[in-house]
Amino acid sequence: MEPSEKINIGLLGYGTVGSNVYSLLEEQAAEIKKATGASISINKILVRDPSLPRAGAPPELFTGNFEDILNDAAISIVVELIGGTEPAFDFVTAALEHGKAVVTANKQLLSRQGFYLFRLAQDKKTQISFEASVAGAIPVIKVLRESMVAAGLKSIYGIVNGTTNFILTEMSRTGARYHDALARAQEWGYAEADPSEDINGKDAAAKMAILASIAFHTNVGLDDVACTGIENVSRLDIAYARDLGLAVKLLGVARLYQDRINVRVYPALLKQDHPLASVSGAYNAVFLKGAAIDEIMLSGPGAGGMETASAVVSDIVSVVARRESPGFLEYPVAYRGLEFFPDEEVVSTFYLRLEVEDEPGVLAAIASAFGKHGVSIQSVIQKGRGARAELVMVFHPVKEARFAAAIEEAGRLEVIKSTPRPIRVEGNHGGGE
Ligand SMILES: NC(=O)c1ccc[n+]([C@@H]2O[C@H](COP(=O)([O-])OP(=O)(O)OC[C@H]3O[C@@H](n4cnc5c(N)ncnc54)[C@H](OP(=O)(O)O)[C@@H]3O)[C@@H](O)[C@H]2O)c1
Repeated sequence: MEPSEKINIGLLGYGTVGSNVYSLLEEQAAEIKKATGASISINKILVRDPSLPRAGAPPELFTGNFEDILNDAAISIVVELIGGTEPAFDFVTAALEHGKAVVTANKQLLSRQGFYLFRLAQDKKTQISFEASVAGAIPVIKVLRESMVAAGLKSIYGIVNGTTNFILTEMSRTGARYHDALARAQEWGYAEADPSEDINGKDAAAKMAILASIAFHTNVGLDDVACTGIENVSRLDIAYARDLGLAVKLLGVARLYQDRINVRVYPALLKQDHPLASVSGAYNAVFLKGAAIDEIMLSGPGAGGMETASAVVSDIVSVVARRESPGFLEYPVAYRGLEFFPDEEVVSTFYLRLEVEDEPGVLAAIASAFGKHGVSIQSVIQKGRGARAELVMVFHPVKEARFAAAIEEAGRLEVIKSTPRPIRVEGNHGGGE
């Protein structure tokens, strides 16, 4: 391709992100030409109903037929901003098979079909870029793909869902109950009308699958990431955690254990002075640990039409800039093929709040139930007295299988009046670090 060449794009979807990509490319055309040596423009836009009036792009660009884009030989890049797995998968597959480069923001698609699509792009000697699929405007994929090659990366901790971070921040800041904080998030536009994929951790799991695959050069799919959401985090846990100098976050954790990997999402407690503890509201952050880099944190807006569009445009620019050396950064995808490290063998520290009868010997009975499984209490605080007494405990690091057995045993004690719901404490321990 000649440097002065015109690059034509087929845009799939003209919603929140798509319309902002169109206007950013228009506004930044001169800047982009300076950076890439090419004039980049959107030639065709796929929507469901092309007859509807739409602000921004001229009406003649819109089509309701994907074939118009696929069969246009002048279009070399397809930007997929439809979302969901179907028909996005068919469209992206067809575009790659035709040798077109693809840019997408679609985490659902990549966390389910990423491995297949990366390989297809490689086979067809073209590119697939997906910066906007994780953490909005934060350039985390680029950093993981390009800047961490020699970092000896061992673990990734991510606050990758803005909705849940907003809710937990509100609960902590105002003492609000979970349902009230969720209603506020919806009212202020930080949560969808149906926020279930955010709340139950699935959205974060999809993003962690993508991050782990890229960082550790292995195939991690959505189904490989166990997740626990924030539905059961109570304002009492948040208040007691604060008393202990800890903050609650919905954390994605991907850790390398020599040649095995473990990726999960769960509510976790972090020391208040941990960099991730101060990431508040709808912000996202990704915290990387590696032998050669010690610790690096990237943070910023995790969503929003314009923020996400800026990541999409940066991918388009990279695709154009790399047009002489296509391929998935020229190394084979998932070349390591790591095995999964089982959850039960992970060493974790747990926090636990228990409602108990306030009687002599209760603590001894509980400590003995845990002790039988080799689980020892690091600290314990009693809150309240009488029928509503609560024990707030933090345990020494222990293999999760042992802790699960201890919880089951303790849960059978008559003096315990609530279902034990432990929360992991993260930040300064554990294998893989
Ligand atoms: N919004 C954000 O802040 C954000 C942040 C990060 C990532 N993302 C990702 O970005 C992508 C786009 O999100 P969005 O918020 O821009 O979505 P959106 O506002 O719902 O827009 C979707 C667009 O795709 C078109 N579309 C949907 N199904 C189609 C089909 N079957 N055939 C043709 N066109 C179809 C729609 O056409 P009509 O206009 O005719 O309905 C609409 O223009 C998603 O993968 C999302 O996960 C979004």
